[in-house]
Amino acid sequence: MDHFRLIDGVMHAEDVPLPRIAAEVGTPVYVYSRATLERHAQVFREALAPLGNPLIAFAVKSNPNLAVLKVLQRQGFGADVVSGGELMRALAAGMAPDKIVFSGVGKTDAELSLGLDKGIGQFNIESREEGRELAALAAARGQRAPACLRVNPDVDARTHAKISTGKAENKFGVPLIRARETFAELAALDGLDLRGVAIHIGSQLADLEPLETAFAKVGALITDLRAAGHTITHVDLGGGLGVPYRRGEVLPSPAEYGAMVARATAGWNVALTFEPGRVIAGNAGVLLTRVIRVKRGGNGPPFVIVDAAMNDLARPALYGAWHDIEAVEPTGERMTVNVVGPICETGDTFATDRDCDALKSGDLAVFRTAGAYGATMASSYNSRGFVAEVLVDGDRFAVVADRLDAAAIMDAERVPEWLA
Ligand code: LLP
Repeated sequence: MDHFRLIDGVMHAEDVPLPRIAAEVGTPVYVYSRATLERHAQVFREALAPLGNPLIAFAVKSNPNLAVLKVLQRQGFGADVVSGGELMRALAAGMAPDKIVFSGVGKTDAELSLGLDKGIGQFNIESREEGRELAALAAARGQRAPACLRVNPDVDARTHAKISTGKAENKFGVPLIRARETFAELAALDGLDLRGVAIHIGSQLADLEPLETAFAKVGALITDLRAAGHTITHVDLGGGLGVPYRRGEVLPSPAEYGAMVARATAGWNVALTFEPGRVIAGNAGVLLTRVIRVKRGGNGPPFVIVDAAMNDLARPALYGAWHDIEAVEPTGERMTVNVVGPICETGDTFATDRDCDALKSGDLAVFRTAGAYGATMASSYNSRGFVAEVLVDGDRFAVVADRLDAAAIMDAERVPEWLA
């Protein structure tokens, strides 16, 4: 459930009419709903409540906006970070260091050191090499880094190939067949407190079965590791739960996910961590855009050219992803259109042959389900600047990320003297 709905024929975010935001902030602009973020956080937490008091570490990559992180910090969430930049954001939002988990295959020495400096709760080690480096850095400072070993279960998550992470050919984690020897080697190092395992098999999962299969493999591994004399107290089950992108689409609910996890982890006797991103933020945001003009098509439907483009919302261009498109003030009329941005490549297409609300020049429209992997993946391609972000709370709203216009970006560049 989200808080974007029509009130007297005009789409609102909570109690704020979207035309008001467009008028005051301009378009394109991401609009997030605090009430929706909080609701998703609470539903997720309640679904996992029977599992003790698991750490819920929001996947910062899905929406790193400081205000969004602050909303979730106030819900008791921690953070799953994958770079020094994300780590600094989580801390800036007030997340407790011990609720921060550091994932990612390419953490540099500087990033590992930053994590040690800040005393984060857990490093998810993705290789023997990384484990050795982290151990050496920690030992040199007289620390023992709390860590889990990320394993790759070789399970097909049945999602888009570019966001699948748990197949043997993917770069993530240590293959299960090498997990025991790697764990033994790393557990013996002074600089590590290797206390468990981590897993994350992919994103936008529409089916719980691959997760359950992967978790069963983790369960077997825990049994083996304990039999070999290791103490296993922590398991990180990652994120990945999908969300509906099309009206009417039904995906596994957090409650069904929680029930499956309870089944799969029965008897493990560990502290669990989860790293949800999309399921918390996805439907808590829309991308608000204005139609620049409608252009007649060649031999197909008309082109609705909007002022948002693939640099603002990359998912359709990158993954062929679907985002529902709705008029902010629908008339009830429909049309079949191609919805495109102004960028000079054909990939800048949001929808092809789409039946949607009729739209004409000057109308406002939204791309739904844009709260996760939206603004965070923006670029300034075509020198379009970086899109602004707004957070709504009841009948008020605030700009939580300024629009960085082309001039601001140009300010960070210079022509060397020897060229001038
Ligand atoms: N934990 C780890 C280690 C991850 O790599 C990810 C996402 C998550 C948690 C959060 O997954 P979620 O709950 O959001 O599914 N840009 C793509 C999605 C990339 C996901 C990368 N990893 C998209 O727009 O669909």
